[in-house]
Amino acid sequence: MEYVRVAGTGDIASGQIKPIEAGGRKLLLAQVGDRYFAAQRKCPHLGLNLCLGSIDGQAIVCRFHGAKFDLESGEIERDPKLLFIKMTAKGELSIYPVRLEGSDILVGV
Ligand code: FES
Repeated sequence: MEYVRVAGTGDIASGQIKPIEAGGRKLLLAQVGDRYFAAQRKCPHLGLNLCLGSIDGQAIVCRFHGAKFDLESGEIERDPKLLFIKMTAKGELSIYPVRLEGSDILVGV
């Protein structure tokens, strides 16, 4: 596994989600308090952009149908829903390891 610099700590703030690229993959970087998480950018439900979602605790919530995924484990915390129609998230979120070196945020891919 190779760690690549994706951002500096000054490029993101707690509660924010930013698009990043590492090793040719389109990912997202999220900050929760003083912790950083990297995950696939496409929602496992229908592949829409999770960067448009929001942070809830240590989870990311997709803005399109409300699916919620733990940012540490990738586990589904809530399945998507459209009005009264319940759907399934189809799979967990792929999580990538994050390392800090000084003020550089590195992601392992
Ligand atoms: S695309 Fe994310 S919940 Fe449907």
